[in-house]
Amino acid sequence: MASPSANLWVLLGLGLAGVLLVTRSLRRVIKKDFGAFLERLELLPPPPPPPPKAPHPLSGLSFAVADLFDISEAIASFGCPDWTATHHPAEQTSPVISTLVESGATCVGKTVIDEMAFGVSGDNKSFGMPANPIALDRIPGGSSSGSAVAVAAGFVDFALGVDTVGGVRIPGAYCGVLGFRPSHSVVSNIGVIPVSPSLDTVGWFAKEPGVLHKVGYVLLQLSYTNSYQPRHFIMADDCFDMVKIQSSRLTQVVVRSVERLFGRQVLSNVNLGNYLAAKLSSLKELQNENKYANAKNSTLLSLGCAMCGLQNLEFKDQHIMWIESVKPAIDSYIKRSISTDEFSKSDLYQSVRHEMRGALNSLLKDDGILVIPTVTGLPPKLNSKEISSDDYILNTLSLSAIASMSGCCQVTIPLGTYEKCPVSVSFIARHGGDRFLLDITRSLYGILQEETKTVVKSKTSGQQVNNEEAAEAAKEKGNVSYREKQWQKAVGLYSEAIRLNAKKAAYYSNRAAAYLELGSYRQAETDCTSTINLDPKNVKAYLRRGTAREMLGYYKEAIDDFQYALVLEPTNKTANLAVNRLKKIFQ
Ligand SMILES: *[C@@H]1O[C@H](CO)[C@@H](O)[C@H](O)[C@H]1NC(C)=O
Ligand SMILES: *[C@@H]1O[C@H](CO)[C@@H](O)[C@H](O)[C@H]1NC(C)=O
Ligand SMILES: *[C@@H]1O[C@H](CO)[C@@H](O)[C@H](O)[C@H]1NC(C)=O
Ligand SMILES: *[C@@H]1O[C@H](CO)[C@@H](O)[C@H](O)[C@H]1NC(C)=O
Repeated sequence: MASPSANLWVLLGLGLAGVLLVTRSLRRVIKKDFGAFLERLELLPPPPPPPPKAPHPLSGLSFAVADLFDISEAIASFGCPDWTATHHPAEQTSPVISTLVESGATCVGKTVIDEMAFGVSGDNKSFGMPANPIALDRIPGGSSSGSAVAVAAGFVDFALGVDTVGGVRIPGAYCGVLGFRPSHSVVSNIGVIPVSPSLDTVGWFAKEPGVLHKVGYVLLQLSYTNSYQPRHFIMADDCFDMVKIQSSRLTQVVVRSVERLFGRQVLSNVNLGNYLAAKLSSLKELQNENKYANAKNSTLLSLGCAMCGLQNLEFKDQHIMWIESVKPAIDSYIKRSISTDEFSKSDLYQSVRHEMRGALNSLLKDDGILVIPTVTGLPPKLNSKEISSDDYILNTLSLSAIASMSGCCQVTIPLGTYEKCPVSVSFIARHGGDRFLLDITRSLYGILQEETKTVVKSKTSGQQVNNEEAAEAAKEKGNVSYREKQWQKAVGLYSEAIRLNAKKAAYYSNRAAAYLELGSYRQAETDCTSTINLDPKNVKAYLRRGTAREMLGYYKEAIDDFQYALVLEPTNKTANLAVNRLKKIFQ
């Protein structure tokens, strides 16, 4: 990619966090607590009620909190020692923490966040970057890095973080733990330092799906009643195309698990960028500006830019006074981000949010799950160039922007490792569908882990299985292109499927249909013949070959095909009509 414009860097100011901070932590000594904790403390739950009353729902669980939540008589650092020095101790503990403690959990410490919770690498220039316990040579991700690390290393059962542009989902993915971002404004953020109020949510990490679920029920004040079954699992193909590792490693696990638990009929595919392009007129307006040219006119990338633009504006609004009066030694990337003067765009950004929510709610309804990759690949290596590349930052944030801008809820689900690094997928449900999402996560989690093992094994044990599955994936993509009337692209994808597995009649038959649309009748005829050789009773192939031959002027052969289709399916009107039509021409 060409060198990014200055404008884009301002938009993506936070991404630079990675570059500047990671280089600094080269000579690092791994601490005993992986550098996750800033301070140990103990907030004890009330004594359990006497039997026969049920114990508190979270009794026996320990947790940690990212250091931007108020704790009575303490000062949160907000990832910045100058903040501590210039603020008074909190008078009250934030309601989310007190709710958790009253529900039986013990708070044991405060964890490291990116400076002013503004970054996605997980570093903090004052407190050092926590180590990723699963992949020591990789970044943990941020902004709530310490909380993710504390859970991944098993120091606590769960931990709280803040997710603005991915602060819980990204470190969850990089450290291999579950991370939940609730719908916007359904969990109280009173007593939590704001980053960008339109995007901020209080999220949580856990290793055990049961714990993730219980904490969610407590924080969302949900009751245990029957949940509905999912009716759609929609795989966002274009999002998986953004993944730098073989994306079938992720999609196959989801497809197999969903098939096992709910049946194949609930699965479908979408090109999310195309879907959103048709729905978001406000994003079009932003795209028409020069600045977004770097986003290659891609709807998803532009959405990522819009999220960053909005975050910069709101962050500036919240914190510019403090930054200017205290002049803390904050990093230049934060300074650059708050140099934004785009206040006139504020309304447009809000329109994007509004339209995004409408678009996703109508795609997902009450019982749909959108499946996307959480991040674009493995956690970047410490000090790697990748962290500073605009390609990495923009793609990563564009995936995060889907839930951040729509306010929908999203869960990061780890799916084992790939080249010894954690990988994950994400499920998104409509705004307000938090309970549905928590329930689905709990019921699918075990099967997802089983299927992960199967897929990993099949990858290593046989290239053939691998190819067959890759061929299926190519065909599915071909089907999507076909439905979108992108015939040439469909032909390419079906050809890829045939290259990987030449023994499937459906691939030739599908390609024949696309060739017919393109007017490539000879190729269509050849493909139909291949289909018939593999599957002699394929009615569609006879009908398609008949059509191709008719167009090529081979009327006699065409009649034979349609008549044979009638032998196989005597009541088929299409075949019947064609035979009659052709016979008339012939006479
Ligand atoms: C981490 O923060 C502490 C406390 O402010 C400081 O003493 C130390 O030098 C910092 N380490 C790094 C790597 O910045
Ligand atoms: C993006 O779209 C606009 C308007 O449709 C067009 O003028 C511009 O050249 C496109 N930019 C790129 C990089 O494709
Ligand atoms: C998609 O795939 C299925 C199964 O192979 C096939 O039957 C169907 O005709 C394909 N085409 C479209 C456009 O859905
Ligand atoms: C004819 O058969 C094809 C292939 O089985 C089928 O798709 C089509 O709907 C049938 N048409 C009619 C009118 O029955």
